[in-house]
Amino acid sequence: MTEQRPVNEIAATKAPTLPDAQTVTAVRHFTDRLFSFRCTRPQSLRFRSGEFVMIGLMGDNGKPLLRAYSIASPSWDEELEFYSIKVPDGPLTSKLQHIRPGDQIILRPKPVGTLVHDALLPGKRLWFFATGTGFAPFASLLRDPETYERFDEVIVTHTCREVAELTYGRELIEAMRSDELLVELIGAENLAKLRYYPTTTRDQSPRMGRITDLLKDGTVFRDLGIDGIRPETDRAMVCGSLGFNLDLKAILEGFGLREGANSDPAEYVVEKAFVG
Ligand code: A2P
Repeated sequence: MTEQRPVNEIAATKAPTLPDAQTVTAVRHFTDRLFSFRCTRPQSLRFRSGEFVMIGLMGDNGKPLLRAYSIASPSWDEELEFYSIKVPDGPLTSKLQHIRPGDQIILRPKPVGTLVHDALLPGKRLWFFATGTGFAPFASLLRDPETYERFDEVIVTHTCREVAELTYGRELIEAMRSDELLVELIGAENLAKLRYYPTTTRDQSPRMGRITDLLKDGTVFRDLGIDGIRPETDRAMVCGSLGFNLDLKAILEGFGLREGANSDPAEYVVEKAFVG
């Protein structure tokens, strides 16, 4: 007698294997606009912390629907992690937000990007400026020992509309300090170099306002006890919406910093937080 199998299992067995398929291992929802997920990592995938890859799902027309996503996990992690917005009408994220452990996603293993250490000249202090899901590449860089080998101080600012939207970043930074493996890898003295500066613009919180305004009026520097941003000592990476990136570029250029690239390192680099 043949074994009876549930219909959905038969369908899953018959589904064609996706090209560059990876398996989802964990999903976490933070708000109705934000979620993170982890998936298996192709054995051959090497990347520099801060880079992005194309990921997605098979579209209804049988063609892959792909978007650029910063890798949020550090390069030493055996899995990959991503942090995503949910756009109700977004062709990809309206579907991607429903993935569950065991599902398959498509991942093109060709990492690229400018938010990398190679695009910055040596300096003393490194700033990460993020809004929303722009925190993702910094989640990778913050857990990379190289970040602390290269700089005496690391400041990460994260601006979101609501307090709940800060959760992914805040918990990640808190967990870093109590993660034995990470403390061993990076060193407790190096982790002490990290300073976190979250702000909200619409919810009440201890620090309110756009980081751009807080930089312009000097609040950030007063709060952190720093006497400004200088091209001799300070380096910056910026990741947020287009408007945010442009405003912050102007501020950094005003401080005398120049934009760098992989082929021509300088004092700051910018990348758009990708929306799907
Ligand atoms: P605001 O609430 O004042 O628009 P979003 O969710 O729209 O991507 O925005 C994420 C965060 O980035 C919000 O707190 C938003 O502030 C802030 N933001 C948006 N545009 C800029 C900008 N040009 N400069 C600084 N902050 C910005």
